[in-house]
Formats: sequence, structure tokens, C-alpha cells
Amino acid sequence: MSNTDQTLANLLQEDRRFDPPAELAAHANLTAEAYDRAAADREGFWAAQAERITWAEPFTQVLDWSDPPFAKWYVGGKLNAAYNCVDRHVEAGRGDKVAIHFVGEPVGDTRSITYAELQDLVSQAANALTDLGVAAGDRVAIYMPMIPEAVVTMLACARIGAPHTVVFGGFSSDALASRLEDCQAKVVVTADGGYRRGAASALKPAVDEARTKAETLGHTVEKVLVVRRTGQEVEWDDSVDVWWHDAVDGASTQHTPEAFDAEHPLYVMYTSGTTGKPKGILHTTGGYLVGCSYTHWAVFDLKDDDVYWCTADIGWVTGHSYIVYGPLANGVTQVLYEGTPDSPERGRWWDIIEQHGVTIFYTAPTAIRSFMKQGREIPDARDLSSLRLLGSVGEPINPEAYVWYRHVIGGDRTPVVDTWWQTETGSIMISPLPGVTAGKPGSAMIPIPGVAAEVVDEEGKPVPNGSGGYLVLTEPWPSMLRTIWGDDERFKETYWSRFAKQGYYFAGDGAKKDSDGDLWVLGRVDDVMNVSGHRLSTTEIESALVSHPKVAEAAVVGAKDEDTGQAVCAFVILREEAGDGGDDIVAELRKHVRKEIGPIATPRQIMIVPELPKTRSGKIMRRLLRDVAENREVGDVTTLADSSVMDLISSGLSGGKGDE
Ligand code: WT7
Repeated sequence: MSNTDQTLANLLQEDRRFDPPAELAAHANLTAEAYDRAAADREGFWAAQAERITWAEPFTQVLDWSDPPFAKWYVGGKLNAAYNCVDRHVEAGRGDKVAIHFVGEPVGDTRSITYAELQDLVSQAANALTDLGVAAGDRVAIYMPMIPEAVVTMLACARIGAPHTVVFGGFSSDALASRLEDCQAKVVVTADGGYRRGAASALKPAVDEARTKAETLGHTVEKVLVVRRTGQEVEWDDSVDVWWHDAVDGASTQHTPEAFDAEHPLYVMYTSGTTGKPKGILHTTGGYLVGCSYTHWAVFDLKDDDVYWCTADIGWVTGHSYIVYGPLANGVTQVLYEGTPDSPERGRWWDIIEQHGVTIFYTAPTAIRSFMKQGREIPDARDLSSLRLLGSVGEPINPEAYVWYRHVIGGDRTPVVDTWWQTETGSIMISPLPGVTAGKPGSAMIPIPGVAAEVVDEEGKPVPNGSGGYLVLTEPWPSMLRTIWGDDERFKETYWSRFAKQGYYFAGDGAKKDSDGDLWVLGRVDDVMNVSGHRLSTTEIESALVSHPKVAEAAVVGAKDEDTGQAVCAFVILREEAGDGGDDIVAELRKHVRKEIGPIATPRQIMIVPELPKTRSGKIMRRLLRDVAENREVGDVTTLADSSVMDLISSGLSGGKGDE
């Protein structure tokens, strides 16, 4: 057996299936015929999806792929993204529809904004940015809390053709400075601070520091526009700093949106590379907007009366595509929440769902697992019956977390769509369709209509059903990244060189095809372990651990082993109701993995820990866990969301319990 086949021999068995609710299937936005329609004429299909958008000038060619991997979509078309997200809904008589139900973290701090009001706000901000000297093509950095002004600023930038780069508010001044320098941002929009975990946390000081650091890198930021959110004291430099309420509140609400080329840059989103400096992923206007609008409508089966909530931060691509551009292009009513799930207490998210009658809810597996850990009494105490569809994004969702999500949050009524995509893909690529697909817990299923994906071997040949390999996208798609900002070579090298002969896009994930041909994303190929010549997926073993009733969350890494090359080491967080798990917990869990997957996957070590090291976007940092597992000094922790976590883990371990 080859290595890839052996991965397969160790498959978790998952037999549960969840059919689409009959009522949903009967009125679904997309039905099964869309797969064939799209496959028969992919470009024709994407031409039809482009009709969701209002074009100032029609395109003359759907796709120009004459110079791969540099794509041009909707060639010759002109449009304004902000007009599409705001004005056209007002013109269509829907100005009184609520666009955003803003919920601040302090209880009672709410504000609802209609599309007509949003149009005024975006126009004012566009006029103010223009007055500050921002012109089409200039870059604007946004470093803000999750408040309506953040959305307004993104749309105002789009309206005047100034690409934005949103930097997550949890990032340090160093991270901000390097991004300001890399994209040569002319203006920064920020706030004095925002509310997180029950307190006002500052943002403006980091901008001041970043501006000084950017200066030493040879880049000067001209203006800083500051929203007063918390009323904190701020340092002020009159030559640079401008209050939002001075510049925007008094600006005219009249602003004529200019039409830009379909390939005009819309934004740059930085994402971490495996090494060195972050990559500025460039998305352009027409194809990106079509991709976001279409997928948001199809995958969430969006209806006019839905109340939608995506819990991502606008500092990540999920916030760009599924809070701002997709939902607003579709004229949705949505919730925007500033704070953390546990402030002022653990039921906050469920309170928000109950209060606003949220019907579609989109969040990440890391959040779901933390709710599993806390126990179901908390959501059970709220009325969540408005929910009709649940989504997951960001990492593989373990089958057990999927079932818990569907059962406890969705009351067994709601389909769960496990959506696979990346910052680079711009919009959802692989997902169930809620009115078509019988869902399998843990599988993202198949590419959505219009998207072509494969699982291939080392040589780029499709693997048969029942095998694993590299996940590739085999055809260009409208919302694809166009390049890495300022670095076409790195773009080619990073994404298009591995399968250059075939012309496939590969961005680092491994996947397997089950016996039905459905896809199971296994996570980054760098995370795959090799134990005695068997390729084992970290995700799979983690899912086996999470399927044990006492386990809330697990992270698995391969550690060097004299006998087997690598050995499986697991870090496990127990559910609160399980207490300390009992004296035999480690033996019990090892036995469980052996039963679920097989002896080859049995962890050599299991460590019970209070927390796991995660990046600010919730991804487990396995590199640090490998350091622990291999008894090394723990490496660079600067990208951790909470840098004290590694201390917690180490101190917990020296307490004794865990190792076998
Ligand atoms: C990576 C992309 C997608 C927007 C948020 C993260 C992992 C994402 C899934 C999923 C399994 C997933 C992949 C991917 N990932 N969604 N449904 N199942 N893995 O964007 O930070 O660019 O990360 O997240 O490894 O490559 P990102």
C-alpha cells in the first residue's frame, strides 16, 4: 500500500446522515440541477450569476485566462461595489429595511441601521475620506472594533475606489506597522477603543506606535481618522489626527458613486505565510462581489425575511465576504456584535439570537467546541427556535461538534453547512447545499456548482474514492485572489507551482474522498504525521478524541520517536461536567482512539490541559505543541491570542497528571 492509501485504511467510520428538511428543499434557492448546469458550461453559469450584480457597464467577456495564473473576470464590466451593497436596495424601495442590528458589548448598547441610513453614512464617509486626500487607488488601513463605522468605512473606501486593508484589532502595533508599510497606506481609520470582555480596550495608542514604526521603515501615514467609541483619553497630534465626528458627521449625505473596472482592486487582506512576512492577498471588484453574493445566497439559502448573523470579525476574510460584501450585496438584515461570547456572561450569543430572532447563524468550530465544554444548560436556557440554518467555517468541524451544533443549537431542525474556503479563494468553494445535500458530520461534501475541485496524488492525478491526497482547485473561479500585493512571483510560487503542469491551484490542505466521493478536509498538509510509515491526519485523531463524552477539545501533533519516526501526542481539554476525568482518563482515551481508528493511531502521550494555544483567528498553533511534545523550549508565541496559554499548559503538565 502506498502512504496515501494507508491514510485511508485508518478512516473514522461515520454513518450518520441528515437529510435536508422537506420544507427547505421544496423552496431551495439552488436545486440539484445546478451542478449539471454549471458543469456543462462553467463560464455560462458564472455569466448568469453575474446578473445578481448591477453593472454600470456590461462585461464583454466572462473570463480572460490567457495569462495564467493571472485571471481577469468580467472583462470590460464596470461597477461600484458600495452602490451594489447599499444604494441599489434603496432605489428598489427597500430603504426602510434594517441592514444592521448593531449590538455593542455593553448590554443595552444597540443601534439599528436601515439601508437608507447606511446610504447616508457611507456617502458621508466617502466625502470625508475624499476631503482627507484619499483618491481612487490610494490604500486605506482600517483598525477598528466591530462597530457600524467599520462596515461604513469599508464601503466608503469601495465607493471611492480606494482599496482597504483591514487589520484585526487584536493585532499588535508591530503587525499593524508592517502592513501599513507593505501596502503604503495613506490614511488609517481607527477608534479610541472598543469593548471586549467587559472592559474598554484601547486601539489608538497602537496606531500611534505603528505610525512611528512605519516612519522608521520609510513610510509616512498622512492622516488618522478616529471614531470616539469608548471615550478613553487619547494622545492627539493635530497635524495628523482627525475625529470622525468632526470630519464625517457634518459631511454631505450626497455622493455619486463612480463606476470602476471589474478588475479594480477592492482590498488587500494579509494572511500569514508558513515563513516570513505576511502575504497581502489582493481581491478585485467584479468577480469577488459575484462570488460572495452568489455563495451567500446559495449556501445559506437566503430568503428576504432572514435575520443573518456571522460571528467573525471584520479583520478576517470571513468578515469581508460574509458580513460586508456578500450579505449587503444581497440586501440582508444582519446582526453585528462587537464583543466576546461570554460577556457579561456565557449565554450572550444565545441571548442575541433570541432577542433578534436570528434565522441563519455562521460561526467557527473553535467556538462550538468551547460551548460544548461549558455544557448545554447555557443554550438550553434560551429560545433558539428562530434558527433554521447553521454554518461552520475556519477548520474541519469534528463530527461530534457538528452533531452537538445541530442538536443543541439547531434543535435537530437545522442543516449544518460546513464551508471550506480560504482568504485566497475569497468565497465558499466546498460546502453542502442545504436544500439538496444529505449532510455527513465532518464532511464539507462536494464543490458548490461553478467550482471545480479535486483530490490528487503527488503527480497531480485524481485519487480514487476511498483515498487521500492534496486538495486542489482545477478551474479558475471569479472570487480568486489575483496576486500577492506587490509580489507576483511569490503568488506564482506559493499557489501555482506545486501542480504547475496541470495548472491547478494548491493552497496547502490535504483531503480525502470517501467511498461516495465526498470530501473530508484534513487540514494543512504540514500537519500530517508519519507514524511507522503510515500517514495519519491530526484532524482525524482529534475528531476521535472529541467523540469521547468527556472531551471538549483536542489537538494532536507528531513528536519525534526513536521507534516509529513520529509518535502521536495529544493535548486534551475535558468538558466541565467531566471534572478531572477520573484516574483512568488517559488510559480510557487511548483505548477510545484505538477503537475508533485503530492501534496505529493510539496516542503515545495524552496530556490533559486547561487551554490550547490558538491564533487570534482560532486556529490551533501545533508548532508550539510540538515544542512541548518534543521537550523543547517553546518557540515564538507572539501570534498567540493569549500568550499566557503556554504557561498554563506547562504548569498543568508539571503537576504530573497526563503522561503515560
Ligand atoms: C484554511 C483557510 C475560510 C475563511 C476563514 C479562514 C482551513 C477553512 C475549513 C473547513 C476544513 C477549513 C483550511 C484552509 N479551513 N474552512 N470548512 N474545513 N478546513 O480563512 O485563515 O485563509 O484559512 O482554513 O485549512 O486552508 P484562512
